[in-house]
Amino acid sequence: MTVPPPIVAPSILAADFARLADEVRAVENAADWLHVDVMDNHFVPNLTIGLPVVQSLRAVTRIPFDVHLMIEDPRRWAPGYADAGAYNVTFHAEACDDPVALAKDLRSAGAKAGLAIDRDTPIEPYLELLPSFDTLLIMTIKAGFGGQRFIPQLLEKVRAARRHVDTGHLELRIEVDGGIAADTIEQAAAAGADAFVAGTAVYGAADPAEAVRRLRGLAERAVPGA
Ligand code: DX5
Ligand code: ZN
Repeated sequence: MTVPPPIVAPSILAADFARLADEVRAVENAADWLHVDVMDNHFVPNLTIGLPVVQSLRAVTRIPFDVHLMIEDPRRWAPGYADAGAYNVTFHAEACDDPVALAKDLRSAGAKAGLAIDRDTPIEPYLELLPSFDTLLIMTIKAGFGGQRFIPQLLEKVRAARRHVDTGHLELRIEVDGGIAADTIEQAAAAGADAFVAGTAVYGAADPAEAVRRLRGLAERAVPGA
């Protein structure tokens, strides 16, 4: 298994929305990416934040934004996040009938392109699309809400993706999202994930930056042969 150094991406879904800029600054020197969960009350029942908030936050920090779009019609909305300066824009496979075309649009708008796979979606049909993507986000819960319990069975998809990525020598981050914390991150890393979203485990901690460093250490030590 060939795995690059882990990426830790705190999710601001678990932050205090009245103090977003401060909450971002609290992790910007410890974390690699800032994970931004965009939900539209259609693709998922929940409703969070959208483009204006991303644009405002972009101006107050240098940390790369990892935008996770849990929305319908991503072909209409996703390129706007690339234009706003997002580093990576991930949309859901379940919401898009031509993922490769949208990945191309995102890359030409200057962003990395990410494909997300929700809890009930098998990974196999999407493996052959991965050369068009920079990030594969495998949900370890059902998308829609923070603070849910990690589902270890979903790591089977991570293992399948890791085998495929290593065999094909693809340059692709395998990201896990949902219930990632000190007691779950090692198994996700051992399965082959190399990017880790953590909401509650970071922003629920007394010291969010320290929580990020601790998660990173656990992920580093869990990779076989690393
Ligand atoms: C949920 C979001 C996650 C969420 C994770 O659909 O995609 O990014 O913030 O939160 P925790 O880490 O609390 O499970
Ligand atoms: Zn997310």
